[in-house]
Amino acid sequence: MLKSKFQTFKDKKVLITGHTGFKGSWLSQWMVILGADVYGISDCIPTVPSNFKALGLENKINHSLLDINELKELQERIQEIKPDFVFHLAAQPIVSTSYSNPIETLKTNAIGTANVLESLRYLENKCVAIFITSDKCYENVEWEWGYKETDPLGGKDIYSASKAAAEIIISAYYRSFFLNDKNIRLASSRAGNVIGGGDWAKDRIIPDCIRSWSLNEMVTIRNPYATRPWQHVLEPLSGYMTLAVDLWDSDIRNGESFNFGPNTENNITVLELLEKLSTHFEFESTEDAYFYDKNQSFPEAGLLNLNIEKAQFHLKWKPVLDLAQTIHFTGEWYENFIKGDVNMDEYTTSQINNYLDFAEEKYIN
Ligand SMILES: NC(=O)c1ccc[n+]([C@@H]2O[C@H](COP(=O)([O-])OP(=O)(O)OC[C@H]3O[C@@H](n4cnc5c(N)ncnc54)[C@H](O)[C@@H]3O)[C@@H](O)[C@H]2O)c1
Repeated sequence: MLKSKFQTFKDKKVLITGHTGFKGSWLSQWMVILGADVYGISDCIPTVPSNFKALGLENKINHSLLDINELKELQERIQEIKPDFVFHLAAQPIVSTSYSNPIETLKTNAIGTANVLESLRYLENKCVAIFITSDKCYENVEWEWGYKETDPLGGKDIYSASKAAAEIIISAYYRSFFLNDKNIRLASSRAGNVIGGGDWAKDRIIPDCIRSWSLNEMVTIRNPYATRPWQHVLEPLSGYMTLAVDLWDSDIRNGESFNFGPNTENNITVLELLEKLSTHFEFESTEDAYFYDKNQSFPEAGLLNLNIEKAQFHLKWKPVLDLAQTIHFTGEWYENFIKGDVNMDEYTTSQINNYLDFAEEKYIN
């Protein structure tokens, strides 16, 4: 079902902002496989190692280095491309950085998003734009129920506030400029904590572990009891793509927001996740793999579940991988990367194809 649905992207111009990052590089790879004409806009290649580099994307897509805070340049580039689809992922996505650099975080996540929206106003072709915010855009009241798309936005920390602000800006742009625009259709999407190979961001739990574990070193963890809705990167990407195809075919869901999260069995603590993931590395016991440092912790939400019934009902989207598969996909990717002699372009493509095969079964049942 997903395989045939995603044929929509073949030969289409697909612009991905944040294409050099974790999710953006996976989405670029997937779009290349589907035969899309892929364009990327990012300010830099943010990490070493880099999934963008490992996949050889520089040679497979139209790649521009550009800051989304520079409105004029962004507008000109988007006018040049005239994309059929836009996936806006460029952001300052790290919670710890939002404490050290709040203004930059607010600027890129809120005003940068406004700049993308402003650039779309002058397009004269049909274009579907998916704006990626976060599960953290909701006012977190630390309850055990999943947040619905209609729950209040908010944020106790700057990163969360920047994502809530982005949501408000998207909604205001939609209602002010795009409601009666026949060309532009858009939606926002909110996903939870994403794991998977190829993430090398700083101060994120999995990349932090892999950096240490690949050197056979113990990792220091800050918030072991935080529960997160862990999902493999291919899950929210399949959600964004499903939403984009839905909007391409019909304007019924235009201007709406959708959550994409895992089934509740994937809601486990950081500690439980590390226990399972560390089995991919050669530690005699988990005590050699990680260490909890109470002094290094900083305030982060304790519990944050998403209700995904809207996406299931209206888009017929569903999460495909169970918890074991999610961790297996992630651990195997890094194991292969660390070996140093595996073609990661081919390996990553094989994970995408495996995911689609699992999806075929899951969507039938
Ligand atoms: N990874 C997660 O667990 C997660 C969870 C919820 C939401 N998100 C959201 O998904 C999106 C992608 O996240 P990611 O994990 O791939 O992040 P990432 O840090 O790996 O990638 C961010 C990308 O944005 C680009 N970027 C940053 N500032 C820019 C600017 N001023 N101009 C142009 N490009 C800029 C970077 O170069 C990079 O390509 C973000 O909006 C993030 O907030 C991620």
